[in-house]
Amino acid sequence: MKALLLKNLKSPLIPTVIPKPKATKNRSRIKLSFAGLNRRDYWIQQGQYPRIDLPVVLGSDGLGIDETDGRRVFFNPGLNWGENQASQQPEFQLVGMPDQGTLAEYISVPADKIYEVPDHLTDPEGACLPLAGVTAYRALFIQGRLQPGQKVLITGVGGGVASLAVKLALAKSAQVYINSSSDEKIETVISWGCINGWNYRTDLEWLQNAKEEVGGFDLILDGAGGETVKDYIDVLRPGGRLVAYGATLGPWTQVPAAKVFWKQIHLTGSTMGSDQDFADMVDFVREHQVRPYVDRVFSMDEANQAFDYLINPEAFGKIVIKINAH
Ligand SMILES: NC(=O)c1ccc[n+]([C@@H]2O[C@H](COP(=O)([O-])OP(=O)(O)OC[C@H]3O[C@@H](n4cnc5c(N)ncnc54)[C@H](OP(=O)(O)O)[C@@H]3O)[C@@H](O)[C@H]2O)c1
Repeated sequence: MKALLLKNLKSPLIPTVIPKPKATKNRSRIKLSFAGLNRRDYWIQQGQYPRIDLPVVLGSDGLGIDETDGRRVFFNPGLNWGENQASQQPEFQLVGMPDQGTLAEYISVPADKIYEVPDHLTDPEGACLPLAGVTAYRALFIQGRLQPGQKVLITGVGGGVASLAVKLALAKSAQVYINSSSDEKIETVISWGCINGWNYRTDLEWLQNAKEEVGGFDLILDGAGGETVKDYIDVLRPGGRLVAYGATLGPWTQVPAAKVFWKQIHLTGSTMGSDQDFADMVDFVREHQVRPYVDRVFSMDEANQAFDYLINPEAFGKIVIKINAH
């Protein structure tokens, strides 16, 4: 079968013929039609991920036909979470390194990880839901404990996880606010039902404006990290929560410890989700007809352009690859 292989770090993916994976007693083979990209795929390509094992077929998300029963399916890319709902065990890993990922014509995955795709989702929407969906779901509702009516700020709304978190939070009837480097993205997300958004790049007063308008957020969901987090402590209400699921900008700097303890702030981390979180996320998406925002669909031949686009500031939401070779 055709697959896109990463043979060396910081180098393009190479179309390669590799053996077709086999279905076994406990694993089903899926004929893939779309694969969703994540920042993780880019981090691995750039050598900025722990325990990189090359060569590898990247891609944690995908949608296709389960050859055992002909259903349109996707799967939970998180393997070996374990029984503890509070955190994953050390053996936890994701599809798409070290195991073969979804940038290939076929994949074999444990049968108990496979879910029928909710009918309201298109193939590209379904293909990019799993990883970002479970990450946003756990960060908002399990670690973030978001309740209807609460005020949540979702930062960097152009991100794949952040844009999906907005849709989930709106479906929960939260009061949703956002920030972004792009006025166009802010306008689009307000049209989905967000109350307001601020441009963190061009509006130097945005924190003050947000504080005056909102009073204080119950929850802030952040995947950027770096020096941005110190500012968020100021706009959280006393007793509020900041849930971090990523650090695209690097380690946190200058977070004011005194304000954190004086305001009784909860600083919480969140990664992916348990098997239970994944099942609950799929149910929630089906019940509330949530749809991920797909920015662009690239062909398999254009996969390297898609990787470049992943880090383009214009990118918005999810990037999908059409597995077009069968
Ligand atoms: N823990 C987990 O399980 C998990 C799962 C998925 C992802 N992650 C991590 O979470 C992060 C985001 O992932 P993703 O897939 O959503 O990535 P992504 O789609 O590449 O998100 C990038 C976004 O970051 C935002 N950003 C950049 N600088 C910012 C700043 N100064 N303030 C606020 N936002 C800023 C931008 O938003 P605007 O365009 O709106 O400015 C940009 O669109 C990555 O670090 C990723 O590795 C973790």
